[in-house]
Amino acid sequence: VSADNPPVRRLSDWSDARLDDLADEYDTPLYVIDLERVRENYARLAAAFPDADVHFAAKANTSRAVLETLEAEGASIECASAGETERAFAAGFEGERVHYTAVNPPGIDLDRAVELAADHPGLTVTVGAADTIDRLAERGYDGRLCLRVNPGVGAGHHEKVRTGADAKFGVPYDRAASLLESAADDFDVVGIHAHAGSGISGDDLGNHRELVSRMGELARTIDPDLEFVDVGGGFGVPYHPDDPPLDLESVADATRDALGDLDATLVVEPGRYLVADAGVLLTRVNTVKEAPETTVVGVDAGMTALVRPALYDSYHHIRSVGADGQAVETTVAGPICESSDTFGTHLLADPTRGDLLAVGNAGAYGYEMASQYNSRPRPAVVVVDGDRTGVAHRRETHADVIATETEVTWE
Ligand code: LLP
Repeated sequence: VSADNPPVRRLSDWSDARLDDLADEYDTPLYVIDLERVRENYARLAAAFPDADVHFAAKANTSRAVLETLEAEGASIECASAGETERAFAAGFEGERVHYTAVNPPGIDLDRAVELAADHPGLTVTVGAADTIDRLAERGYDGRLCLRVNPGVGAGHHEKVRTGADAKFGVPYDRAASLLESAADDFDVVGIHAHAGSGISGDDLGNHRELVSRMGELARTIDPDLEFVDVGGGFGVPYHPDDPPLDLESVADATRDALGDLDATLVVEPGRYLVADAGVLLTRVNTVKEAPETTVVGVDAGMTALVRPALYDSYHHIRSVGADGQAVETTVAGPICESSDTFGTHLLADPTRGDLLAVGNAGAYGYEMASQYNSRPRPAVVVVDGDRTGVAHRRETHADVIATETEVTWE
């Protein structure tokens, strides 16, 4: 771990002056993504896993500028849909560096994946059900195939993000070898894949170790030899200022150790780790009111901008940009007409209407999960890189919100 590439960027490390300028120029709510921090996160991860292929799980942040940045750094990419796969190719990833992980794929996704594979040789399609293999064969696909396995080991920050033991994902572990053998007649079988869940912390290493060792074992029983073994992502980041950073070295050591001897290349596919602390969400205070047990601080970003607190009770640290004064315990709440639209309890310095607040770790699963509920346009996204700033997603307008609506003509 080098001093100029610390394992965590805390919310306090963002420059107040810069955030103030950005909010003034681009208005709020506003996502700010620092591409230099994305590069640092990638460099740290690649250094910890020198023999592995690092794939970015694009679902955490599909902004073109982020994808192009990681592409230029040498990352590969994992896509969760045909749409994400398309965006990966648009950002310049070459076929061999793209994996499409098909989760109960609609036919339209498979159609598109087969077309994309023809245009971009080397695309790998990862399937998690025997009938998905048949559906690919029906479409004439005979390319690179990876099998997603359900290792029966789940982990993660919330029950809603533990995929490893969820029957929805992957084929049962004890069926994997025979499925791979039969698939090898029709496809170029290149790998096996599993993902335990999201938000693996230092305490969860036991699960990770278990998953990796099962995958290593499976790989050793399979003939023909595999090109890669993908053990998923899920590397956690500290959301609370008191949380310690993930010790990547021990994760990497545990991974190598659990995998055992193998000719196949190790693949890891983190999303959050690469982008979470590269992003903040800026929001402006519009109401301050005293309630019997708390001070409610109403802000212009809510669950439609950042749904993680409402969906998973996730904590995102919040601070006032540039404000000082007495810290007050507050409930920060959004403008959506729903009681789950709150960011929870936060100590804020002298909360006042017009204050700018920064919400930390917003670079992963932030804008990506935004919605238009309550007819609320999605925020804008700007990227910064050193002194430079650019708009990655313009702010939506009300016209965007209703763009797909048509006047009903009865037939
Ligand atoms: N690989 C696969 C197959 C996955 O399903 C996922 C996440 C990842 C990699 C990346 O996981 P990460 O390294 O980012 O933890 N919306 C939730 C996270 C759900 C992630 C689902 N799959 C959240 O905001 O916490």
